[in-house]
Amino acid sequence: MENKKIPTHVGIIMDGNGRWATARGKKRSYGHKVGSDNVDRIVSHAFSSGIKSLTLYAFSSENWARPKEEVDELMKLLKTYFKKFIKKVIKNDVRLFVVGGREQLSSDLVKVIEDGERQSENNTAHHLNIAINYGGRQEIVSAVNKLIEKGEEITVDGISKNLYTAPSGEPDLIIRTGGEYRLSNFLLFQGAYSELYFTDVLWPDFDEKELDKALDSFAGRKRRFGKI
Ligand code: IPE
Ligand code: IPE
Ligand code: MG
Repeated sequence: MENKKIPTHVGIIMDGNGRWATARGKKRSYGHKVGSDNVDRIVSHAFSSGIKSLTLYAFSSENWARPKEEVDELMKLLKTYFKKFIKKVIKNDVRLFVVGGREQLSSDLVKVIEDGERQSENNTAHHLNIAINYGGRQEIVSAVNKLIEKGEEITVDGISKNLYTAPSGEPDLIIRTGGEYRLSNFLLFQGAYSELYFTDVLWPDFDEKELDKALDSFAGRKRRFGKI
């Protein structure tokens, strides 16, 4: 479809890795590995489709409650993923932001993240926000605390400007793979008027065609923002 309405900012809840692996008689961590390989193809396809900013939910503030073995595997995977990904990001004029609390992350993961953010800080074509140890409620509290520290009034606009994803604006579309119909603490404040798209397809199987389906669905939506 030519001249299709393309969302500027898309959030993706990349869910279903564990079930994908279990269905194949493999360990959940294998699903996370295959899921992390899928990030690359979806990021490339999203940016070449004209999406300006992407926010990917990689690890929630609640995911620490999983068995230690799985959490350790995920943290290891994030580190290797970033190392591999940073070079590509720089080359493609993508600016990387990692959104979420950093205090609970290991110092070597934080270093890899900070290097990636610094090396990409002059890139302008796209924003790639990776949500790690992210919680939408915590993000709102942190934005309010920033306003208090600055002695500013607590307003909707003030909170918006102090959210982690402020440079990307509000998400026009939030996609959730994996068949669950919930937000699981993702982009709660900035998602107030986002279009939602849910699919049963598990994240490792969510390919370019599946993203196109989500974009087609978005293109057909009538956004009213409370008006008529
Ligand atoms: C999403 O897949 C990845 C993370 C939450 C880290 P899951 O691990 O939640 O996979 P399912 O939902 O159990 O299949
Ligand atoms: C949401 O998935 C978090 C990520 C995809 C990173 P979960 O699998 O953690 O969500 P719930 O537990 O099903 O709500
Ligand atoms: Mg899940």
